[in-house]
Parts: sequence; structure tokens; C-alpha cells
Amino acid sequence: MRLCPLRWWDLRGLQDIERELFGADGWSESAFWSELAQSDTRYYLAAHTADAITGYAGLAAVDCGVGGGGAVGGAVGGEAFLQTLAVRRSSWGRGVGSALLSAVLAEAARRDAHRVLLEVRTDNLRAQALYCRFGFVEIGRRHRYYQPSGADALVMRRG
Ligand SMILES: CC(C)(COP(=O)(O)OP(=O)(O)OC[C@H]1O[C@@H](n2cnc3c(N)ncnc32)[C@H](O)[C@@H]1OP(=O)(O)O)[C@@H](O)C(=O)NCCC(=O)NCCS
Repeated sequence: MRLCPLRWWDLRGLQDIERELFGADGWSESAFWSELAQSDTRYYLAAHTADAITGYAGLAAVDCGVGGGGAVGGAVGGEAFLQTLAVRRSSWGRGVGSALLSAVLAEAARRDAHRVLLEVRTDNLRAQALYCRFGFVEIGRRHRYYQPSGADALVMRRG
């Protein structure tokens, strides 16, 4: 398995993973295009095996500088948001999710983000356990955050 920047030509292949994991709440291909288009603030990685992408993760570091003080956050740095994290179900439990999360958190640190936030479904205990292992703690809830399902989200913060 190797981690590489996610490219626009990878996007079509993500749709089956997105539907498998998130159903109707999953992102469309155009939503991913929009994310990659914001190249100054976004950082997306894909986990590749020999013949396929098995997972991906995305970070938004909106108020951060790159490796030296934030544009808004100044010397104390800014905030980053974990936009997505997904691993094909057949590859769960092999460390792919941990590797992706480690890599995007390292990039957040490189961009001087002193704090990383994320949302996760309240019923997604597997992902919550992973985030807890990486030092995230619950700081709130968002009612009916996911659409169209109407599922609630936990807000978690690291740092
Ligand atoms: C959440 C998700 C990304 C985890 O991906 P993954 O590749 O299975 O994660 P990992 O293999 O790195 O870690 C999970 C497993 O490793 C084990 N593990 C990894 N590091 C560990 C550590 N330091 N200590 C103990 N256990 C550890 C966990 O116990 C777990 O094992 P399990 O299979 O028995 O549950 C994946 O399940 C997924 O895509 N879920 C659906 C989409 C999703 O929920 N995304 C997050 C949305 S916010």
C-alpha cells in the first residue's frame, strides 16, 4: 500500500467506495472535484494497492499558512478540518485508515494547524474509536447534519 496525492482522474473510481460506505449521504463526483479545485487549502491522499484505490482522506486547512504562521491564525496557527476518511470495506482492519489519518494529521501540523476538527455519525463507533486513539475528543453534536439521511453528527476535536 502506498499513499499518493488524490488526482482528478482518480475521482470516478471513488464513487463505488463512497456509495458502499456512505450510501445516499456520500459525496458526488462533482463534490470531490470542488474539493480538489481548492488546491490552496485542501490536501487529499489516496491509498493505492497494486490495482486499485482502497481508501482516501481529505483535509481542509483554511486559516493556516503553509509551514509558517497562519494567514488568519498568525503565530498560533489555524484550524484544519478532516473532510473525509474512507477505506473500502474489504480492506478494513489492516491499518489503511490509521495510515491515512496519520498522514493528513502530519500535514495539518506542517501547515501550522494547532487544532483539527471533524464530524462523524453518532452511530459510527468504529470511526469514533479510531479518532479517539488519535487523540480526538467529543466537543458537541450537530442534529440532522448528514443529508439526506438526517443522521446526527458528533463534532470531535484534536488539539
Ligand atoms: C473508519 C475507517 C476509516 C477505519 O479504517 P481501517 O482501515 O479499518 O482502520 P485501521 O485498520 O487503521 O484501524 C482500525 C483497526 O485497527 C486496530 N488498530 C489500529 N491501530 C491501533 C492501535 N494503535 N491500538 C489498538 N488498535 C489499533 C483497531 O483495533 C481496528 O481493528 P478492528 O478491525 O478490530 O476494529 C473505516 O472503517 C471506514 O472507512 N469506515 C466507513 C467510513 C467512515 O466511517 N469514515 C469516517 C467518517 S467520519
